Amino acid sequence: MLLLAILAPPGSVATSPQAPAAAQPPVALVVSVDRPGARLDPIFYGLMTEEINYAYDGGLYAELIRNRIFQDRPIAPRGRGRSVEAPGPPANPAVAKNPNLINWWLVETGGASGEIDIDTTDPVNTTALKNSLRLDIKSAGAGQRVGVANDGYWGIPVRPATQYTASFYARASQGFSGPLTVAIEGNDGKIYASGRVPRITTAWRKYVVKLSTGKVQPTVNARFVLSASSPGSLWFSLVSLFPPTYKNRPNGMRVDLMEKLAQMNPSFLRFPGGNYLEGSDFANRFNWKATIGPLEERAGHMSPWSYRSTDGVGLLEFLHWCEDLNMEPIVGVYAGMHLDGGKTTITGDALKPFVQEALEEIEYITGDTSTTWGARRARDGHPAPFKLRYVQIGNEDWLNNGLKDYAGRFTMFYDAIKAKYPHLKVISTMRTRDKYDHGRTPDLLDDHFYVNIATSLAQAHYYDAYDRAATKIFVGEWATNSPGSGDTGHMGFALGDAAFLTGLERNADVIVMNAYAPLLVNVNPGGRQWQVNLIGYDGLTSFGSPAYYAQKMFANNRGDVVLPATFDPLPRLTAAEIPQAPMPAGAPGPPGGGRGGPAGPFDGLYASATREIASGDIILKLVNVQAAPQPLTIDLQGVRTISRSARGEVLAAEVGAMNSVAEPVKVAPKPVVITDAGARFTHSLPALSVTVIRLKAK
Ligand code: AHR
Repeated sequence: MLLLAILAPPGSVATSPQAPAAAQPPVALVVSVDRPGARLDPIFYGLMTEEINYAYDGGLYAELIRNRIFQDRPIAPRGRGRSVEAPGPPANPAVAKNPNLINWWLVETGGASGEIDIDTTDPVNTTALKNSLRLDIKSAGAGQRVGVANDGYWGIPVRPATQYTASFYARASQGFSGPLTVAIEGNDGKIYASGRVPRITTAWRKYVVKLSTGKVQPTVNARFVLSASSPGSLWFSLVSLFPPTYKNRPNGMRVDLMEKLAQMNPSFLRFPGGNYLEGSDFANRFNWKATIGPLEERAGHMSPWSYRSTDGVGLLEFLHWCEDLNMEPIVGVYAGMHLDGGKTTITGDALKPFVQEALEEIEYITGDTSTTWGARRARDGHPAPFKLRYVQIGNEDWLNNGLKDYAGRFTMFYDAIKAKYPHLKVISTMRTRDKYDHGRTPDLLDDHFYVNIATSLAQAHYYDAYDRAATKIFVGEWATNSPGSGDTGHMGFALGDAAFLTGLERNADVIVMNAYAPLLVNVNPGGRQWQVNLIGYDGLTSFGSPAYYAQKMFANNRGDVVLPATFDPLPRLTAAEIPQAPMPAGAPGPPGGGRGGPAGPFDGLYASATREIASGDIILKLVNVQAAPQPLTIDLQGVRTISRSARGEVLAAEVGAMNSVAEPVKVAPKPVVITDAGARFTHSLPALSVTVIRLKAK
């Protein structure tokens, strides 16, 4: 007899599946262990990333000061993608005076008075730091102060017993006697941490102050304040505040988000985009050379997602990120196209400098210190070259009128890269559905899918009929979503995703690797430009969506070889039976949460079976999109002995169940413990569930 126990992990809240429905008739799952098929490439699961939804600034990049070099402006309510929610200009009187003062506030307490403005005279440098903030303290004395406050990315997150590093450039007018107080303060005036700079010189100097919190309640209702109590003028530039970072990297990443990414066990990082690579125009493409070196030299640029990027996460930071999570970089190089419908695409001779720029980028990543750009990387702090195997030429060049000249552009990059780096694999951004002449044969094609649940289920079979002799595939962006579904997806999307992933694994002979997109979203109002996303957060709390957990389960239980697996009989669903969550009130989009797409019928069950060579484990990934439990007889053919005890995880919840800042693990996997597994055993899949089971085989 089979005993299945689903245990709730400590701290997680179980979400009950929908009203219990009668179980489906039993089905056999036949796994041919004796007929191993394609190998899964060890790089199969990875991450795709770009600056969208405040993914880096206000997200993964741990910098807490917003508009640190006074280049930002109020965000115009516009943008790209499926939805845009941009905040209107805040009611900050300083911004009315000068838009570059966005996020900076004049502080006057105890009857003191002063003014702030942007000053372009005598800057720290005339490239990145050409604007400084001028603080005029007109009158202040004992018990009074005048200062300037930064409200961060939707508040400065304060955590207990934490040391923050504040740094800034400053100079003072002759006669300003100091001191300057540096503090993290509650919006109610409570001081969480403070420090002092006794004196500010009249010449620019960089100041670093450590600020430590004590036993305080975590809050985001806080701001960063520079203030003084004696008259005079002060100028500030590159004002920065960092909490501790992942692996303590200077200019590093937010710890909880990096931990969530690490738990996905990703093998690669596709960067820097996405549309962020192309940019809205030439000036705002991802110009990698403008993103390296000291922050003092990084002016930042407009991301195509309607806000300014600090470029604090530059080329070397992407590579550090790879190093820290043991991921291989998949670097997208700028290929002359922008997001303007092809109006300014660069081709022919005019493109040559950018082909050269791509070669230099590869040298920066991989060259030893005897090379020009390898030496530059060493000067930037990383003498050891990084491993690189894949380079992608542009992004989504089937859009923006890119088809007409991509063959020419691709050929130029391909030839130059192969000539200098013959071992590198060159990825085309052309999809498998476009039969398109590249001029050269790419090593991989990049497919992107943003589809509703019905389409995801159907696309679990998308690659079954793919020509096995054709170019192999990188599914570089994919997600189940629908307009109006918000920041992060619900369980219904996770079911679509998991079903699609079983299809990718089954077709591992043609699919080399894949990545969900977008990865990150700041869920504060105005934080999101795209829906839906994998991981959400505010300043203090982060959470994975149900889709995050489904991927985590899959990527941590990959296996090396695909085993044939079939259901008999295979239950089928009509389009009306596909799980659909009710749309949030007032959300745009089709009624019923994104119905549409293929007419069906659809499979009710999805499976991928693999074998892990080192352990001999047989791994089953099973998706039940039916609203009722599915009893299975699992028949492992061609295997001598299966240990009676097996383990796994199950993610099951009602179709509309979501995680959030308030309920970060409402939907989370729970352990599966099986005590009577064998070459033939029974197991029931909960309604609306994703299950991974590891069987010990001999
Ligand atoms: O992931 C969001 C966007 O979708 C990417 O920037 C782009 O490549 C795709 O259109």
